[in-house]
Amino acid sequence: MNKRTVVVTGGASGIGRATAEAFAGEGEHVVIADISGEAARDVAKELGVDHVELDISDPESVDAAVAAVTARTGPIDVLVNNAGLAGGGGPITALDVAVFDRCVRVNFRGTFLMTRAVGAHMVAAGTRGAIVNISSIGARQPTPGLGHYEATKAAVEALTRSAALELAPHGIRVNAVAPGPVLTPMTAGFAADTAAREAWEARIPLGSIASVSDVVPSVVFLASPGARHITGASLQVDGGQLLG
Ligand SMILES: NC(=O)c1ccc[n+]([C@@H]2O[C@H](COP(=O)([O-])OP(=O)(O)OC[C@H]3O[C@@H](n4cnc5c(N)ncnc54)[C@H](O)[C@@H]3O)[C@@H](O)[C@H]2O)c1
Repeated sequence: MNKRTVVVTGGASGIGRATAEAFAGEGEHVVIADISGEAARDVAKELGVDHVELDISDPESVDAAVAAVTARTGPIDVLVNNAGLAGGGGPITALDVAVFDRCVRVNFRGTFLMTRAVGAHMVAAGTRGAIVNISSIGARQPTPGLGHYEATKAAVEALTRSAALELAPHGIRVNAVAPGPVLTPMTAGFAADTAAREAWEARIPLGSIASVSDVVPSVVFLASPGARHITGASLQVDGGQLLG
C-alpha cells in the first residue's frame, strides 16, 4: 500500500498521541494537529512525524492548517477527529455556562469544522479517504455530571452518520470509535482517586479501565482497507460497559 497522509487532531496527548504512533508504525505519513504547538512539536519529534498547530474550533485556523498540510504533503487520506475535552463537570442545573460553551465549541463545532474542511478537500482531490471520529459511550449511556460532554458526543455520532451518507458517493468513509473511560491525561485526576476509580471499574464487565492501546487498534482498523464496507458505524470499545 502507498504511504497515506494521516492527520490526527489532539495528537499531542493521550489517545491521539497513541493513534499517531500506531499509524507511524504502519509506515504512514502522520501529521499531529494540536492546539498546543509546543507539545505537538515535541511529540512529533519524538515519534519522527510531522506536526501543525491549529485550533479545531476556529474555521480560519482549520482552513490554514489544511492548506499548510496539503501544500507540504499532498492530499490528506485519513482524518482522525480526536481532539476533545470535557472542560469540567457538574449537574446540568448548576453547570457553568462557560464550561458548556467550551465543550460544545471544541467537541461539536471542532469536529464539524474539521470534517467540513477535510471532507471538501478529499472530494476536490478525488481521494477515497477515511474519517474516524473519537466519540464516547457517554453519547449513549449517561453518567451524572457529564451531561454537557455526553451531548457533544451524541452530536458527533449524528454528524458521523450524516457525513457518512453524504460522502459515500465519493468513496469516503466516516466512522466513530466510542471508548469507555481510558487512562490518559484527561482522566488522570479521577484515576488517581482510588474510590472513584473502583466505582468506575465496577461498571465495566471486563473489569478494568482501558489503556490507550486498547482503543487505538479500532481506529487504525476503521481507517484501513479491511473496513472498506463499513461506514456510518460507531464501534464501542468499553469492556462491555454499554451492556449494563
Ligand atoms: N480519556 C477518556 O476516558 C476518553 C473516553 C472517551 C472518549 N474520549 C475522547 O478521546 C479524545 C481524546 O481524549 P484524551 O483522553 O486522549 O485527551 P487528552 O486531554 O489527553 O488530549 C486531548 C488533546 O487535544 C488537544 N486539543 C484540545 N483542544 C483542542 C483544539 N481546540 N484544537 C486542537 N487540539 C485540541 C489537547 O491539546 C490535547 O493534546 C477526546 O475527544 C475525548 O473526548 C476520551
